Amino acid sequence: MKTAVLHIGIGNVGRELLEQVTTYGSDLVYHGLFDVAGGLFAADGLTSSQLHAFPENADKAVAALDCVDQMTDPFILVDTTAINLTLPVMKAALQRGGAVTMSNKKPLTGSQADWDELHALGGNRLFYETSVGAGLPVISTLKSLLATGDEIVEIQGCFSGTLGYIFSELETGTSFSAAVTQAKALGFTEPDPRDDLSGMDVARKVLILSRVLGKKLEINDVAVEKLYSDALADLAPEDFIKQVSTLDSEYAQKATDAKQAGNVLRYVATVSPTEHSVRLMAVPATSDIGGLHGPDNIIVIKTKRYLDNPLIVKGPGAGVPVTAAGVFADCLAAELVLKGEHAL
Ligand SMILES: NC(=O)c1ccc[n+]([C@@H]2O[C@H](COP(=O)([O-])OP(=O)(O)OC[C@H]3O[C@@H](n4cnc5c(N)ncnc54)[C@H](OP(=O)(O)O)[C@@H]3O)[C@@H](O)[C@H]2O)c1
Repeated sequence: MKTAVLHIGIGNVGRELLEQVTTYGSDLVYHGLFDVAGGLFAADGLTSSQLHAFPENADKAVAALDCVDQMTDPFILVDTTAINLTLPVMKAALQRGGAVTMSNKKPLTGSQADWDELHALGGNRLFYETSVGAGLPVISTLKSLLATGDEIVEIQGCFSGTLGYIFSELETGTSFSAAVTQAKALGFTEPDPRDDLSGMDVARKVLILSRVLGKKLEINDVAVEKLYSDALADLAPEDFIKQVSTLDSEYAQKATDAKQAGNVLRYVATVSPTEHSVRLMAVPATSDIGGLHGPDNIIVIKTKRYLDNPLIVKGPGAGVPVTAAGVFADCLAAELVLKGEHAL
């Protein structure tokens, strides 16, 4: 039995996912593709030439929500957009008995009420492994720990490849402004680096992890330390880049102070019974988090069972092939659930 795929957001991750699924996902058949340009839908499946011609052959009048309403066979709705407008389509897909997979964090980081509704509708048909740590097994690890009766004591980690790169550079004597400029040139930052330096992307990941643990909270409940001064907050992006060097001496001092104490600076996310935060910390250079270099991510999970020797997941926390593969793996898990062959 084949499983139909309706896929919204054919950008970097979406295009790679399409490639991976059509190459390796023998029982997954694309029935719909949707992007800003419009949609493409065929009730009996799209041909490979139709898929490869997208978005040139997209039709403005074909909308994902209407196509979901036409689905009768088992299907998976995939969201690889970066927008906060896909929640209604997801809810409709789940109500119709479909499964939902996503790399997009936005549907998961709105109100607690939306999270609750999505999970009440979705149950085990809702997958978002790549929303934290891209292809790394973070969400599934937490869910397995919880399902087997373990208790999470504390989660700490670094979930921003961009900030990881910047603070690793600082250790080698590079100035803050040079590190930011290099990260931008390497394509690690958003077009406006303040989108990374604000800490909000990491805060969204803290919100998702906290909610997976069953906590009820909103994004404003996460304490966020942003990495630039208020004076630089309202500048145009090109002026921000010109003036970011005004932060150099402050960060050079922090890096020097940290080094003298045997520490390094890391932008750390913490989830514990008393804390939901993202902030710059000086951590021992010899610690697991201190030993992280460059854009890699790490999550250190302390539980009742993994207390003295925490469970650690570490590796690339971004990247198109690994993220697409993570969504693909979620699609394969969703396929098993829809076929009634998967218990968790
Ligand atoms: N790249 C990574 O390493 C990584 C890792 C983990 C998670 N993610 C998440 O994965 C998602 C996709 O990332 P990406 O790098 O592939 O981003 P991207 O290249 O910007 O892709 C997003 C796609 O969604 C499309 N889109 C925008 N508005 C839409 C709408 N109203 N309806 C349908 N499609 C719409 C965009 O079209 P336009 O380009 O025409 O606007 C674009 O094709 C993001 O949420 C990102 O945070 C990415």
